[in-house]
Amino acid sequence: MSSVNKKYDFDTVIDRRGTDCLKYDYAKVFGKPDGLLSLWVADMDFQTAPGITDVIKEAAEHGIFGYTAPGEAYDAAVKNWYQKHFDWDIQDEWIIKTPGVVFALATAVRAFTNPGDRVLIQRPVYYPFSSVVEDNERQVVNSPLKPVGDHYEMDFEDLEEKLADPQVKLMLLCSPHNPVGRVWTKEELCRVEEACLANDVILVSDEIHSDFVWGDRKHHILASLDKQFEENTVICTAPSKTFNLAGLQTSNIFIPNRDLRYRYKKAIERLGLFNPNQLGLAACRAAYETGEDWLSEAKAYIFGNIEFTREYLQKNLPQIKLIEPEGTYLLWLDCRALGLSVKELNEKIIHDGKVWLDAGEMFGPEGEGFQRINVACPRKYLTQALEQMKRALVPVGIKKA
Ligand SMILES: Cc1ncc(COP(=O)(O)O)c(C=O)c1O
Repeated sequence: MSSVNKKYDFDTVIDRRGTDCLKYDYAKVFGKPDGLLSLWVADMDFQTAPGITDVIKEAAEHGIFGYTAPGEAYDAAVKNWYQKHFDWDIQDEWIIKTPGVVFALATAVRAFTNPGDRVLIQRPVYYPFSSVVEDNERQVVNSPLKPVGDHYEMDFEDLEEKLADPQVKLMLLCSPHNPVGRVWTKEELCRVEEACLANDVILVSDEIHSDFVWGDRKHHILASLDKQFEENTVICTAPSKTFNLAGLQTSNIFIPNRDLRYRYKKAIERLGLFNPNQLGLAACRAAYETGEDWLSEAKAYIFGNIEFTREYLQKNLPQIKLIEPEGTYLLWLDCRALGLSVKELNEKIIHDGKVWLDAGEMFGPEGEGFQRINVACPRKYLTQALEQMKRALVPVGIKKA
């Protein structure tokens, strides 16, 4: 997409180096060489919506950063977003603010299970799904997703059998799914929740990517599908992926059931956390109140990047199969046909290609031979990264052909 007739600029490559951002300034800490093109961690290389920057500037000029709590207008902005985009009516008291969604997942583990209990996840999945369980001395039960054709599916037989284990107390669902890019259908979501209900398993649904859904698919908020589901479900959301605000660490967790909410809030209080971040609250409210047209342009641009990557790979690196991206700005690349070991694949991409992606095995052993690429960046930058990957990998492909 060109920037002609567009209000926002997604084409300019903005230098983020020297801002202490994880994506560029921590290569050494992560054991990577300098000078890589960086398409790993899930934030965007775009400036956020101007309405958000304006309220941050206003707060900075006011210059007082005292304790702050979300007011009625904050809750209204959050509720309106979810009503308008997902047709779900949220009550004020359901909203709990946490400093990030990973914190929210860890809190659910601590609030709803005891050490030694089992928590079900579906690998390959965003790596903190495992660490929040294991770091809290609970056990991971994995029901792996199955690759079927160009996408992944849940293995319901396996899932239902594992949920029936009385020691499984909680399930962490990723919806839409990072990294495999599935936007779960209503039928799939209902089947998961029904299996949880049948086995007294509380369901936590991480819906942080819900604003990025491609084509005519629809994201369903799990709890919105049935009144009974509301009573058993924790919905984790944030404006951070949607508006590129991850550094402000502000997320909104919805818990309709009073008992679950009480236990969850207690788990937060036990950690001594009482007040949210003032700038995060201001940014979140402005995002949901004023960010809509920025988001629709950002989505169109990112979708263009997805189509560009698809075509580029088909033409230049046909051994790499793009798993159909139904949602998120993270693409899951099946590189197994290159015939490289996990180590060789990583080394070729990093050392020969000078591109930093997320290696598939970070998401569980099911991810071996895959790579995750974040395409929320200017097209020019993405093109350069793909060109560098081609230079590093084409000799391999030719040898194998
Ligand atoms: C599924 C999922 N949940 C949570 C997060 C991170 O959330 P936060 O930065 O709010 O902790 C990410 C970031 O990539 C993610 O993909």
